[in-house]
Amino acid sequence: MAEWQKSDWRAKPRVQMPDYTDTDALNAVEAKLSTYPPLVFAGEARSLKAKLGAASRGEAFLLQGGDCAESFSQFTADGIRDTFKVMLQMAMVLTYGAKVPVVKVGRMAGQFAKPRSAPTETVNGVELPSYRGDIINDLDFTPESRIPNPDKMLQAYTQAAATLNLLRAFSTGGYADMNQVHAWTLGFTEGEKASKYREMANRIADALDFMEAAGIDSSREHSLHSVDFYTSHESLLLEYEEALTRLDSTSGKWLAGSGHMLWIGDRTRQPDGAHVEFLQGVQNPIGLKCGPTTSAEDLKVLLNKLNPENEEGRLTLIARFGAGSVGDHLPRLVQTVKEEGANVLWTCDAMHGNTIKSATGYKTRPFESVLREVQEFFAIHKAEGTIPGGVHFEMTGQDVTECTGGLREVTEEDLSDRYHTACDPRLNASQSLELAFLVAEELSSFRAESKHVKAS
Ligand code: PEP
Ligand code: CO
Repeated sequence: MAEWQKSDWRAKPRVQMPDYTDTDALNAVEAKLSTYPPLVFAGEARSLKAKLGAASRGEAFLLQGGDCAESFSQFTADGIRDTFKVMLQMAMVLTYGAKVPVVKVGRMAGQFAKPRSAPTETVNGVELPSYRGDIINDLDFTPESRIPNPDKMLQAYTQAAATLNLLRAFSTGGYADMNQVHAWTLGFTEGEKASKYREMANRIADALDFMEAAGIDSSREHSLHSVDFYTSHESLLLEYEEALTRLDSTSGKWLAGSGHMLWIGDRTRQPDGAHVEFLQGVQNPIGLKCGPTTSAEDLKVLLNKLNPENEEGRLTLIARFGAGSVGDHLPRLVQTVKEEGANVLWTCDAMHGNTIKSATGYKTRPFESVLREVQEFFAIHKAEGTIPGGVHFEMTGQDVTECTGGLREVTEEDLSDRYHTACDPRLNASQSLELAFLVAEELSSFRAESKHVKAS
């Protein structure tokens, strides 16, 4: 077989990608991007792969989260800081509650391109091409805005680089310090659940106090003072991805330089399509969304194509079936993976199968459905004897009103207050943290029971 080339995807059927009309402009952008520095480095991708391998064995747990779509107009330092902060808080709750290291991966610094269920949208009788993310076209509902513009790739690159720069600074500069635990639950009001969360926060604070008294100064201790934080996005716009792909001199393998982990979406996972062709050739850890339409036959082909050496940590299967449907699909796919003897990390995207339209006209997701999908995911892995290795959320550190429910109840009427997403509805900071407490409960009881099973 001829050696893989980063442009091989161009010969395959492409779906969900724009048709740029100005080829000269497109070529110029690609040429420019291919001389720019990569945003991530091969050693980082390899260290993330090793951690995901640990998660696949039940020795760690993946927390992946961030915006549905990053936006040029909502790009601020505070926005990045707040999402980073909430993810660290969630990770702390999971680590403390389930006694397991948490691998933190943001849907950040590159999550710009969006697949759409319909190629056009109609508002008041006017039909225009769909918005496809800020790296492709504009959200404004005008014919000009919806024309794909290749120059937007350069702005996406710049924003991703600046985002990563800030994330790297926050990760090592003391911002990751965990001594503010008490403040986390301030937003939760009275009630039985809230007091449970406060109790856990108190115990975490206690543990940190104890360590300090024992001479382990948490503000100086490297493992508490700094964190490993990785980036990820859907590898959708392949012109951009190809232009940032580089040969890594240490390993002699290709690396997609746009983010640490890249995934293939539910709409672009055709075994003979362009997206699978591209991702099979890069050494990054990769994700594959698995939805209700994923067939066992396709999954078999994909397991072999995407991870021919059966490397641990290389392939994360991101299950997104929707609450109430996990039991119809996950067992058959788990069975396929078992039959193939494939090493995979199973995680649960509890967002994309749970989108509904509210009575007030907003696209939303009920907190209850998100939680229920996670619970079903855990229950099925328990029954199958396999490992629930992580969760995947669309979330933000901002106090938005996009998903309904949670302790600080967001109602359908509230949705219009602070509905800021450029695409799908996200959990707000309080809903995200609450979910972390609930996932920690699932994870710790799963771990307690599986220890019990192993011991008996
Ligand atoms: C997404 O993760 O934003 C997304 C579009 O998911 P999916 O491909 O699973 O629908
Ligand atoms: Co989404």
